[in-house]
Amino acid sequence: MPAVEISLARSVQASPSFLASSVGRKVVMAVSGIILFGFVTVHMIGNLQVYMGAVPLNHYADFLQHMVHGAGIWVFRAVMLTAAGLHAWAAITLYFENLKARPMGYRAQQLEAASWASRTMPWTGLVLLAFIIFHILHFTTGTVHPDFVKGNAYHNFVTGLQVPLVAVFYIVAQLCLGFHMWHGVWSLTQTLGWSHPRYNLLRRRFAMVMAVLVAGVNISYPVAVLTGLIH
Ligand code: HEM
Repeated sequence: MPAVEISLARSVQASPSFLASSVGRKVVMAVSGIILFGFVTVHMIGNLQVYMGAVPLNHYADFLQHMVHGAGIWVFRAVMLTAAGLHAWAAITLYFENLKARPMGYRAQQLEAASWASRTMPWTGLVLLAFIIFHILHFTTGTVHPDFVKGNAYHNFVTGLQVPLVAVFYIVAQLCLGFHMWHGVWSLTQTLGWSHPRYNLLRRRFAMVMAVLVAGVNISYPVAVLTGLIH
Protein backbone atom coordinates (compact mmCIF):
# COMPACT_ATOMS: atom_id res chain seq x y z
CA MET A 1 0.00 0.00 0.00
CA PRO A 2 1.47 3.46 -0.89
CA ALA A 3 2.72 5.60 2.04
CA VAL A 4 -0.04 8.23 1.63
CA GLU A 5 -2.78 5.59 1.82
CA ILE A 6 -1.17 3.98 4.88
CA SER A 7 -1.02 7.30 6.72
CA LEU A 8 -4.63 8.12 5.69
CA ALA A 9 -5.84 4.71 6.88
CA ARG A 10 -3.99 5.20 10.18
CA SER A 11 -5.46 8.66 10.73
CA VAL A 12 -8.99 7.35 10.04
CA GLN A 13 -8.39 4.50 12.53
CA ALA A 14 -6.92 6.90 15.06
CA SER A 15 -9.79 9.39 14.84
CA PRO A 16 -12.46 8.70 17.47
CA SER A 17 -15.33 8.96 15.02
CA PHE A 18 -15.84 10.37 11.57
CA LEU A 19 -19.09 12.06 12.60
CA ALA A 20 -17.55 13.57 15.75
CA SER A 21 -14.93 15.36 13.65
CA SER A 22 -15.82 18.69 12.08
CA VAL A 23 -14.56 17.46 8.68
CA GLY A 24 -16.89 14.45 8.91
CA ARG A 25 -19.90 16.63 9.69
CA LYS A 26 -19.00 19.01 6.85
CA VAL A 27 -19.05 16.04 4.48
CA VAL A 28 -22.46 15.00 5.92
CA MET A 29 -23.69 18.56 5.34
CA ALA A 30 -22.34 18.58 1.78
CA VAL A 31 -23.81 15.19 0.78
CA SER A 32 -27.22 15.89 2.37
CA GLY A 33 -27.04 19.36 0.76
CA ILE A 34 -26.66 17.76 -2.68
CA ILE A 35 -29.79 15.63 -2.05
CA LEU A 36 -31.80 18.68 -0.90
CA PHE A 37 -30.46 20.77 -3.79
CA GLY A 38 -31.51 18.03 -6.25
CA PHE A 39 -34.97 17.91 -4.70
CA VAL A 40 -35.66 21.68 -4.82
CA THR A 41 -34.48 21.79 -8.45
CA VAL A 42 -36.70 18.88 -9.54
CA HIS A 43 -39.63 20.22 -7.45
CA MET A 44 -39.31 23.66 -9.08
CA ILE A 45 -39.34 22.06 -12.56
CA GLY A 46 -42.31 19.79 -11.69
CA ASN A 47 -44.36 22.74 -10.45
CA LEU A 48 -43.87 24.51 -13.81
CA GLN A 49 -46.79 22.36 -14.97
CA VAL A 50 -49.10 24.72 -13.09
CA TYR A 51 -48.61 27.07 -16.09
CA MET A 52 -50.08 24.37 -18.35
CA GLY A 53 -53.31 24.14 -16.34
CA ALA A 54 -55.12 21.99 -13.80
CA VAL A 55 -54.99 18.67 -15.67
CA PRO A 56 -51.19 18.36 -16.10
CA LEU A 57 -50.46 19.50 -12.51
CA ASN A 58 -53.07 17.17 -10.97
CA HIS A 59 -51.85 14.32 -13.16
CA TYR A 60 -48.27 14.93 -11.99
CA ALA A 61 -49.31 15.13 -8.29
CA ASP A 62 -51.32 11.93 -8.73
CA PHE A 63 -48.31 10.18 -10.28
CA LEU A 64 -46.12 11.23 -7.31
CA GLN A 65 -48.68 9.93 -4.80
CA HIS A 66 -49.11 6.56 -6.53
CA MET A 67 -45.65 5.77 -7.98
CA VAL A 68 -44.44 2.22 -7.19
CA HIS A 69 -47.96 1.35 -5.91
CA GLY A 70 -47.86 4.21 -3.38
CA ALA A 71 -44.57 3.04 -1.80
CA GLY A 72 -42.44 5.50 -3.80
CA ILE A 73 -43.67 8.60 -1.98
CA TRP A 74 -42.82 7.03 1.41
CA VAL A 75 -39.30 6.07 0.26
CA PHE A 76 -38.90 9.62 -1.03
CA ARG A 77 -40.20 11.08 2.29
CA ALA A 78 -37.83 8.88 4.32
CA VAL A 79 -34.83 9.98 2.20
CA MET A 80 -35.81 13.66 2.43
CA LEU A 81 -36.43 13.53 6.18
CA THR A 82 -33.08 11.81 6.78
CA ALA A 83 -31.22 14.28 4.54
CA ALA A 84 -32.90 17.33 6.13
CA GLY A 85 -32.36 15.98 9.66
CA LEU A 86 -28.66 15.20 9.09
CA HIS A 87 -28.15 18.55 7.37
CA ALA A 88 -29.69 20.49 10.28
CA TRP A 89 -27.88 18.39 12.93
CA ALA A 90 -24.46 18.90 11.30
CA ALA A 91 -25.09 22.62 10.76
CA ILE A 92 -26.27 23.28 14.34
CA THR A 93 -23.50 21.31 16.06
CA LEU A 94 -20.78 22.89 13.87
CA TYR A 95 -22.23 26.37 14.45
CA PHE A 96 -22.10 26.05 18.25
CA GLU A 97 -18.66 24.44 18.22
CA ASN A 98 -17.32 27.32 16.11
CA LEU A 99 -18.87 29.86 18.48
CA LYS A 100 -17.14 28.18 21.44
CA ALA A 101 -13.78 27.70 19.73
CA ARG A 102 -13.19 31.12 18.22
CA PRO A 103 -12.08 34.16 20.19
CA MET A 104 -14.16 37.28 19.43
CA GLY A 105 -11.41 39.15 17.50
CA TYR A 106 -10.97 36.32 15.04
CA ARG A 107 -14.71 36.05 14.57
CA ALA A 108 -15.00 39.75 13.83
CA GLN A 109 -12.33 39.42 11.12
CA GLN A 110 -14.13 36.40 9.66
CA LEU A 111 -17.43 38.30 9.55
CA GLU A 112 -15.86 41.10 7.56
CA ALA A 113 -14.39 38.71 5.03
CA ALA A 114 -17.45 36.53 4.61
CA SER A 115 -20.12 37.32 2.06
CA TRP A 116 -23.60 38.32 3.16
CA ALA A 117 -25.00 34.97 1.99
CA SER A 118 -22.47 32.97 4.03
CA ARG A 119 -22.99 35.06 7.20
CA THR A 120 -26.75 34.60 7.07
CA MET A 121 -26.68 30.79 6.54
CA PRO A 122 -28.04 30.00 10.06
CA TRP A 123 -30.90 32.51 9.64
CA THR A 124 -31.88 31.55 6.10
CA GLY A 125 -31.68 27.90 7.24
CA LEU A 126 -34.08 28.58 10.13
CA VAL A 127 -36.56 30.38 7.83
CA LEU A 128 -36.39 27.38 5.47
CA LEU A 129 -37.09 24.98 8.34
CA ALA A 130 -40.15 27.04 9.33
CA PHE A 131 -41.20 27.23 5.66
CA ILE A 132 -40.95 23.45 5.12
CA ILE A 133 -43.09 22.73 8.22
CA PHE A 134 -45.70 25.31 7.12
CA HIS A 135 -45.56 24.11 3.49
CA ILE A 136 -46.30 20.48 4.42
CA LEU A 137 -49.20 21.57 6.69
CA HIS A 138 -50.38 23.79 3.82
CA PHE A 139 -50.19 21.65 0.67
CA THR A 140 -49.70 18.05 1.87
CA THR A 141 -51.98 17.67 4.94
CA GLY A 142 -54.10 20.80 4.31
CA THR A 143 -54.11 21.58 8.06
CA VAL A 144 -53.43 25.32 7.59
CA HIS A 145 -55.08 25.62 4.15
CA PRO A 146 -58.27 27.73 3.86
CA ASP A 147 -59.99 25.43 1.31
CA PHE A 148 -58.10 22.13 0.97
CA VAL A 149 -59.49 19.56 -1.47
CA LYS A 150 -57.70 16.20 -1.24
CA GLY A 151 -56.40 15.05 -4.64
CA ASN A 152 -56.84 18.46 -6.32
CA ALA A 153 -53.31 19.90 -6.21
CA TYR A 154 -54.11 22.68 -8.71
CA HIS A 155 -57.05 24.00 -6.67
CA ASN A 156 -55.00 23.81 -3.45
CA PHE A 157 -52.07 25.57 -5.13
CA VAL A 158 -54.18 28.49 -6.41
CA THR A 159 -56.49 29.02 -3.43
CA GLY A 160 -53.58 28.52 -1.00
CA LEU A 161 -51.47 31.24 -2.59
CA GLN A 162 -54.40 33.64 -3.03
CA VAL A 163 -54.00 34.56 0.67
CA PRO A 164 -51.67 37.63 0.44
CA LEU A 165 -49.84 37.05 3.75
CA VAL A 166 -49.15 33.42 2.80
CA ALA A 167 -47.94 34.46 -0.67
CA VAL A 168 -45.57 37.01 0.91
CA PHE A 169 -44.22 34.32 3.27
CA TYR A 170 -43.61 32.05 0.26
CA ILE A 171 -41.73 34.86 -1.52
CA VAL A 172 -39.57 35.67 1.54
CA ALA A 173 -38.82 31.95 2.04
CA GLN A 174 -37.75 31.60 -1.62
CA LEU A 175 -35.40 34.60 -1.26
CA CYS A 176 -33.88 32.83 1.75
CA LEU A 177 -33.66 29.62 -0.31
CA GLY A 178 -31.80 31.53 -3.04
CA PHE A 179 -29.22 32.96 -0.64
CA HIS A 180 -28.88 29.63 1.20
CA MET A 181 -28.30 27.75 -2.06
CA TRP A 182 -25.92 30.38 -3.40
CA HIS A 183 -23.47 29.98 -0.55
CA GLY A 184 -24.37 26.32 0.09
CA VAL A 185 -23.57 25.08 -3.42
CA TRP A 186 -20.31 27.04 -3.44
CA SER A 187 -19.38 25.70 -0.01
CA LEU A 188 -20.26 22.05 -0.62
CA THR A 189 -18.18 21.95 -3.80
CA GLN A 190 -15.29 23.22 -1.65
CA THR A 191 -15.87 20.57 1.05
CA LEU A 192 -15.94 17.81 -1.56
CA GLY A 193 -12.58 18.93 -2.88
CA TRP A 194 -13.61 20.58 -6.14
CA SER A 195 -11.84 23.81 -5.32
CA HIS A 196 -9.24 24.49 -8.02
CA PRO A 197 -8.14 27.78 -9.62
CA ARG A 198 -9.26 26.44 -12.97
CA TYR A 199 -12.80 25.60 -11.77
CA ASN A 200 -13.49 28.26 -9.14
CA LEU A 201 -15.13 30.71 -11.56
CA LEU A 202 -17.30 27.87 -12.89
CA ARG A 203 -18.26 26.84 -9.33
CA ARG A 204 -19.13 30.43 -8.44
CA ARG A 205 -21.25 30.88 -11.59
CA PHE A 206 -23.00 27.53 -11.20
CA ALA A 207 -23.96 28.34 -7.58
CA MET A 208 -25.28 31.76 -8.56
CA VAL A 209 -27.19 30.62 -11.67
CA MET A 210 -28.89 27.72 -9.85
CA ALA A 211 -29.81 29.90 -6.85
CA VAL A 212 -31.30 32.64 -9.03
CA LEU A 213 -33.09 30.11 -11.26
CA VAL A 214 -34.69 28.06 -8.46
CA ALA A 215 -35.63 31.06 -6.29
CA GLY A 216 -36.78 33.10 -9.32
CA VAL A 217 -39.07 30.40 -10.76
CA ASN A 218 -40.43 29.58 -7.27
CA ILE A 219 -41.20 33.27 -6.66
CA SER A 220 -43.04 33.40 -9.98
CA TYR A 221 -45.69 30.98 -8.56
CA PRO A 222 -47.15 33.17 -5.78
CA VAL A 223 -46.70 36.25 -8.03
CA ALA A 224 -48.63 34.52 -10.86
CA VAL A 225 -51.47 33.63 -8.46
CA LEU A 226 -51.58 37.11 -6.84
CA THR A 227 -51.69 38.84 -10.24
CA GLY A 228 -54.39 36.47 -11.53
CA LEU A 229 -52.19 34.92 -14.25
CA ILE A 230 -53.01 31.53 -12.71
CA HIS A 231 -56.59 31.24 -11.41
C1 HEM B 1 -43.24 28.65 -4.47
C2 HEM B 1 -42.61 27.52 -4.24
C3 HEM B 1 -43.28 26.19 -4.08
C4 HEM B 1 -44.51 25.76 -4.49
C5 HEM B 1 -45.55 26.53 -5.26
C6 HEM B 1 -44.65 24.39 -4.04
C7 HEM B 1 -45.78 23.59 -4.27
C8 HEM B 1 -46.00 22.35 -3.72
C9 HEM B 1 -47.18 21.56 -3.88
C10 HEM B 1 -48.42 21.98 -4.70
C11 HEM B 1 -47.03 20.40 -3.18
C12 HEM B 1 -48.04 19.25 -3.02
C13 HEM B 1 -48.00 18.30 -4.17
C14 HEM B 1 -49.09 17.25 -3.97
O1 HEM B 1 -50.25 17.62 -3.77
O2 HEM B 1 -48.75 16.07 -4.04
C15 HEM B 1 -45.74 20.46 -2.55
C16 HEM B 1 -45.18 19.49 -1.74
C17 HEM B 1 -43.98 19.58 -1.09
N1 HEM B 1 -43.05 20.57 -1.23
FE1 HEM B 1 -43.27 22.27 -2.31
N2 HEM B 1 -43.52 24.01 -3.37
C18 HEM B 1 -42.65 25.08 -3.35
C19 HEM B 1 -41.39 25.15 -2.79
C20 HEM B 1 -40.85 24.16 -1.98
C21 HEM B 1 -39.54 24.23 -1.36
C22 HEM B 1 -38.58 25.41 -1.49
C23 HEM B 1 -39.39 23.08 -0.65
C24 HEM B 1 -38.23 22.62 0.18
C25 HEM B 1 -37.28 23.40 0.64
C26 HEM B 1 -40.59 22.28 -0.83
C27 HEM B 1 -40.82 21.07 -0.25
C28 HEM B 1 -41.95 20.30 -0.43
C29 HEM B 1 -42.19 19.04 0.26
C30 HEM B 1 -41.22 18.35 1.22
C31 HEM B 1 -43.45 18.59 -0.16
C32 HEM B 1 -44.20 17.35 0.34
C33 HEM B 1 -43.99 16.15 -0.48
C34 HEM B 1 -44.79 15.03 0.18
O3 HEM B 1 -44.24 14.41 1.08
O4 HEM B 1 -45.95 14.84 -0.16
N3 HEM B 1 -41.44 22.96 -1.65
N4 HEM B 1 -45.13 21.64 -2.91
